Amino acid sequence: MRVIKETRQMFRLTEALRRQGTTIGFVPTMGALHDGHCALIRAARRQSRTVVVSIFVNPLQFGPREDFTRYPRDLTRDMHLAKAAGCDVVFAPDASQIYPSGFCTSVEVAGLGDRFEGAARPGHFRGVATVVAKLLTIVHPTDAWFGQKDYQQAAIIQRMVLDLKVPSTIRIMPTVREADGLAMSSRNVYLTPEQRAQAPALYRALSWGKRHILDGERHAARVEAGMRRMVQEQPLLDPDYLAVADAKRLEPMSAIRGRAVLLGAVRVGTTRLIDNVLVDVP
Ligand code: PAJ
Repeated sequence: MRVIKETRQMFRLTEALRRQGTTIGFVPTMGALHDGHCALIRAARRQSRTVVVSIFVNPLQFGPREDFTRYPRDLTRDMHLAKAAGCDVVFAPDASQIYPSGFCTSVEVAGLGDRFEGAARPGHFRGVATVVAKLLTIVHPTDAWFGQKDYQQAAIIQRMVLDLKVPSTIRIMPTVREADGLAMSSRNVYLTPEQRAQAPALYRALSWGKRHILDGERHAARVEAGMRRMVQEQPLLDPDYLAVADAKRLEPMSAIRGRAVLLGAVRVGTTRLIDNVLVDVP
C-alpha cells in the first residue's frame, strides 16, 4: 500500500491510472478508522481496480468550540486497518496541501445544509462540501463511498456532485453499528463508560419511531415527542433534535408519507452523537 502526502503526486497517480482505463474507488475519511469506515473501503474494493482512502482531519468543518485539536489521530493504526480492508493508496495530506496560503473558495449547498446538523454547527457543511469537492477534484474517482450514518452530509454531497457535474458516482452504504445498536463513530471514544452505556438509547428511540410509523402512526409530532421522551429517560443524554423529515429534501414533515428519515442528535457531556433511520410509508 502506498502513502501519498502531496496533492500533486496524488493527482498525477490517479490521472495516469484513469488514462489506462483503471476504475478508481475513493473513500474520504478523517481517520480514527472503525468498522464503519472499513465497510466503505471493502465496498470500494469489491467494485474498483484501485482503492484510494483519504485521511484528513479537515479544519474547515470544525467550529471554534469543537473538537478539532483533540480529534483522535493515529496514522499508523489507520494505515493498517485501511490496508486490511483492501486499500491500495492512502492519501494523507497536511492542511497546507489542501488549503495553501491564499485559498479562499468555498462550496455551499443551499437549503439542504440549513437545518439539523447545519443549524447546530454553523459553517460545518460548507467545510465538508468544500473539502469533498477538492478531494474529488484531486482524486477524480470513478466512484466515491459515503456512509448513511451522516445522512445529511451524504445528501449534500450527492446534491453538490449533481449540481457541479462532478464525474464521480456517489455511493451510500448502510450504517455499521455496535452490538447494542450504537452507530460506530470516531467520537465514541470520548464517552465515559456511563455515557457509553446510555448512548444506545438514541438508536432505540429512532427504531421505536420507525416501528410506530410502520404500525400506522402518521403524525410526525407524536413520533418526535415519543422519541424525545425515550432519549430523555437517560439522564446523561441531552436531546438536540429528534425529527421526521422528507428523505430527499430533508424538510420537516407534519403528516408522514412516502420516504421519510428519522434524524436524531444528542449531546452526551461534551460529545455530540447523531444517527438516523429510513422508513417507507406506502
Ligand atoms: P468521517 O467521520 O471519518 O467519516 C468518513 C465516512 O465514513 C463518511 O462517509 C461517514 O458517513 C462514514 N461513516 C462513519 N461512521 C459510519 C458508520 N458507523 N457506518 C457507515 N459509515 C460510516 O464524514 C467525514 O469523515 C468527513 O465529513 C469527510 C466526508 C471525510 C469530509 O471531511
